[in-house]
Amino acid sequence: MRIDIITVLPELLKSPFEASILKRAIEKGLVEVHLHNLRDYTDLSYNQVDDYQFGGGAGMVLMIAPIDKCISQLKSERDYDEIIYLTPDGETLNQKTANTLSLNKNMILLCGHYKGVDQRVRDTLITKEISIGDYVLSGGELGAAVLCDTIIRLLPGVLNDETSALTDTFQDNLLAPPVYTRPREYKGLKVPKVLLGGNFPEIEKWREEQAQARTEKLRPDLLD
Ligand code: ADE
Repeated sequence: MRIDIITVLPELLKSPFEASILKRAIEKGLVEVHLHNLRDYTDLSYNQVDDYQFGGGAGMVLMIAPIDKCISQLKSERDYDEIIYLTPDGETLNQKTANTLSLNKNMILLCGHYKGVDQRVRDTLITKEISIGDYVLSGGELGAAVLCDTIIRLLPGVLNDETSALTDTFQDNLLAPPVYTRPREYKGLKVPKVLLGGNFPEIEKWREEQAQARTEKLRPDLLD
């Protein structure tokens, strides 16, 4: 998989890819992430990429020209499955969308800033709009980082134990069951007996029941 991220703040997006699972996925060659500074694609002086909105009103808007130039250049080099704009008014990200996107080969992520981007970008260049939740971030960068994390960990070979993504919370629309590790007892708090017995069908049954009960209690909306 290859992900190209277009942003006015590339430095904000460096560290998520320089640690832990995402770093390892890149080192293993399972994913390539390329950051593109939108300011490198403007023809205007002072590397200007934004301007006041027509009709008046507070806030700057990212202009179409540098975005078009950057996306056109990338598209001339390879085909893209999706060109995604991160925006609070997009479709809310969930595990199902992450699973679907993880099957793609090449994607462009466009991070918005200020008041957003010129509507003509959304109308003509973007194939999908994603929000990471009903709150407003200062820009799409943190949303892009979240989106990349949730997709990249699903790629085959990224997680050490490949089955572990399959038992994540939200896979099968259920929350994950509780987990325990050593010691067996801490300050009188005991690990459920069934997990210590080594009876795997029984353990599996207990986990399914716990997942169901937890979901009913904490996120009944997932069961609708
Ligand atoms: N940009 C600003 N707010 C955002 C959000 N909630 N999700 C994605 N991108 C955003």
